[in-house]
Amino acid sequence: MGMETHKTEDRHQSEYLYRPDILQKLDFNKSPAVFNPRISTVNPGADWMVVRPLQRGDFDKGFLQLLSQLTSTGSITRKQFDERFTQMKISGGHYVTVIEDKRSSKIIAAATLTVEQKFIHNCSLRGRLEDVVVNDTYRGKQLGKLIVVTVSLLAQELGCYKMSLDCKDKLIKFYESLGYKLEPGNSNAMNMRFEEDPS
Ligand SMILES: CC(C)(COP(=O)(O)OP(=O)(O)OC[C@H]1O[C@@H](n2cnc3c(N)ncnc32)[C@H](O)[C@@H]1OP(=O)(O)O)[C@@H](O)C(=O)NCCC(=O)NCCS
Repeated sequence: MGMETHKTEDRHQSEYLYRPDILQKLDFNKSPAVFNPRISTVNPGADWMVVRPLQRGDFDKGFLQLLSQLTSTGSITRKQFDERFTQMKISGGHYVTVIEDKRSSKIIAAATLTVEQKFIHNCSLRGRLEDVVVNDTYRGKQLGKLIVVTVSLLAQELGCYKMSLDCKDKLIKFYESLGYKLEPGNSNAMNMRFEEDPS
């Protein structure tokens, strides 16, 4: 491969799903979450960690293997990953956010904010929190809190009027500590499944 081809390939691999600079603006003082020691998107607590948007090259950094700790991913090819990345980027509203361990070049945590465009509430935006996972060997070190607070503040920064999530009963306390509330009478998750339960 010539030098130019290498450069083009590097640019391709480091392509972000969304503009990374928006993550620099997030104000952790707006979140009720308690961090001890204090960490944030910009200062995740160690210089070998970075919180950033998903990159095209994350296919080679264990992103899908991380997601498989959450649910079944199937055997996704590079081509499928590439096409989905491109479609998400073109359609907009998909804020897949990750934490990378730069020492091993591995993705160690992820969470997605999906922004829905509405007509109601004066053409509002609604955020949904999806696919939250921390690599099992890195759990219990505040990274779950860090990635969830990051995408929640991102939703606020983008102008969402609310952010919603579905979770297992045992995680209610975790999300409550980050500012999410059960709304009695208004928080029943219902599903219609068109395929066998993939989880
Ligand atoms: C849930 C998950 C993201 C938490 O990540 P983590 O990095 O271990 O979380 P943190 O270190 O930031 O922990 C934050 C707090 O939540 C608590 N907590 C974390 N995971 C928990 C669990 N599974 N059950 C109950 N409490 C939990 C921790 O004890 C901690 O409490 P503390 O602040 O009072 O000490 C992680 O366990 C995970 O990836 N689980 C598998 C995938 C999953 O269930 N995702 C959520 C889908 S809704």
